[in-house]
Amino acid sequence: MKNNQFDEWAEEYNCFGKEMPFFQKWIFKKMKEEIDKKGIILDLGTGDGRLLIYLSNTSKKLIGLDSSKNMLNETKKNFNKLGLKGKFILSELPKIPLSNKSADYIISNAALHHVKDKEKLYKEILRVLKKHGKLIVADCFEKEDKEYKNEQNKLRKDKVFWNKYLKSLNRCEKEFLNMQKKLKVKHPIEYHITPKKTKEILEKVGFKEIKITPMPKLDLIYSGVKK
Ligand SMILES: C[S@@+](CC[C@H](N)C(=O)[O-])C[C@H]1O[C@@H](n2cnc3c(N)ncnc32)[C@H](O)[C@@H]1O
Repeated sequence: MKNNQFDEWAEEYNCFGKEMPFFQKWIFKKMKEEIDKKGIILDLGTGDGRLLIYLSNTSKKLIGLDSSKNMLNETKKNFNKLGLKGKFILSELPKIPLSNKSADYIISNAALHHVKDKEKLYKEILRVLKKHGKLIVADCFEKEDKEYKNEQNKLRKDKVFWNKYLKSLNRCEKEFLNMQKKLKVKHPIEYHITPKKTKEILEKVGFKEIKITPMPKLDLIYSGVKK
């Protein structure tokens, strides 16, 4: 496995013990609402395992996959502190070294934009999902999507929510940039696509019941079901 920037960040990235910022609580809550039964949950680009940990009481089994060995070590540390059990896989997406139909839910937060070949990735996800299994993702996207911008603007009407969300997100981004500066590590390559393109590829590879949930600013939440 080649060394990557996330290996350098891992220790500082780990947010265990810190209060979760408002924007992240909102995202994770929305993702959790997509889960309707206890099942096997696979988290792609798990980082420090924060999303898996958040969803731990809705699962039968937790699996974290990441291409950074150091990130996975942080996940393991956090699991140990909480007495949680999990399976941890070191792998570079789009490759998922699991057998066909082995997960009920495949989830991911802030990671899939680092994968270039989205079609290959979604095909691989579909292969690993069980029948009726669901993909649930929160991720950043290519901003030039007018349709999505209109959807986002509807959220703006709730000014209290909007301001609170952006304030907490901006604070987090600032901390993240400071960390990058301090560690002198360049940001890894990103391959953003529009929400519209995301939906098109999901449809093309065979996902059904595709849902796009708008979020303020940079991200979107999307889900799709394997029928
Ligand atoms: C910004 S972090 C997000 C971590 C975590 N999901 C969270 O909610 O904070 C992105 C994670 O994706 C992982 N990652 C990036 N590219 C990857 C790839 N091609 N395959 C597997 N993991 C990858 C990184 O190592 C890192 O842990």
